[in-house]
Amino acid sequence: MGQLADKTALVTGASTGIGLAAAECFVAEGANVYITGRRTQELESAAQTLGDRAIPIQNDVSDLDDLDRLFGRIADDGNRLDILFANAGGGEAGQPLDALTAEAFDHTFGINVRGTVFTVQKALPLLNSGGSIVLTGSSSARRGVAGFGVYSATKAALRQFSRVWAAELAPRGLRVNIVVPGSTDTPGLRGLAENPSHAKAMLEGMASGIPLGRTGEPAEIANAVLFLASDQSSFITGSELFVDGGEVQVYP
Ligand SMILES: NC(=O)c1ccc[n+]([C@@H]2O[C@H](COP(=O)([O-])OP(=O)(O)OC[C@H]3O[C@@H](n4cnc5c(N)ncnc54)[C@H](OP(=O)(O)O)[C@@H]3O)[C@@H](O)[C@H]2O)c1
Repeated sequence: MGQLADKTALVTGASTGIGLAAAECFVAEGANVYITGRRTQELESAAQTLGDRAIPIQNDVSDLDDLDRLFGRIADDGNRLDILFANAGGGEAGQPLDALTAEAFDHTFGINVRGTVFTVQKALPLLNSGGSIVLTGSSSARRGVAGFGVYSATKAALRQFSRVWAAELAPRGLRVNIVVPGSTDTPGLRGLAENPSHAKAMLEGMASGIPLGRTGEPAEIANAVLFLASDQSSFITGSELFVDGGEVQVYP
């Protein structure tokens, strides 16, 4: 029996990277897992990797009507949720204040903050008591990296939402925590680079600022998400769990 036997989970942004790794962990531990993403081909490929217990639903978290369709579909399937990993998100490099546009601001806040807030809100009617909600933060929310103001502000906002929701949802028997990845080798991170050789140099540069001397792997973040999603963390709510090779705790 796996740690998540008979549980149903939703992982948003699960077609690649950290979300896919978390979905793999959940399936391996016995859960049935709804997975989402915007790109159909990547989502179908993830579903094939995950096997029969994965249910792909194409979805954009920044579109509230689309979110209604997502939760309507889960309800129509006759399912409820024990685990919500609201992970869909991302950011762009090179957005210093003097070059920032309103469109770029709205785009990143629209996915990372608005998308996460309404994913969690619209999931509430389906979440079982005893359930676990996990958000994805970022170590950048604790640092002042030039050009990442908007992205890091979205993740700081999620950290604060997670505290407030932990208070609001505790009476319903729901726990809310945020996992905080440091630099993790995903398509999303590599996509910040202009080309593959730049990506390699970028990751090496990031590794040099991490006490453990390397960037993280998606599976390492997924293991922490599994802990927060499972009953192993039954007395933990409102917390942030750093999975960053020591980046923020050792060099604050
Ligand atoms: N990698 C890192 O170093 C790192 C560090 C800290 C935090 N994070 C956070 O970790 C999370 C996952 O990122 P990742 O590194 O694994 O990147 P990734 O490989 O690009 O994965 C992002 C996933 O989210 C989906 N997605 C993006 N926008 C979406 C939207 N509007 N609606 C639904 N799905 C959406 C993507 O699929 P589609 O594009 O097809 O929609 C993809 O499945 C993000 O919240 C990111 O900010 C990453």
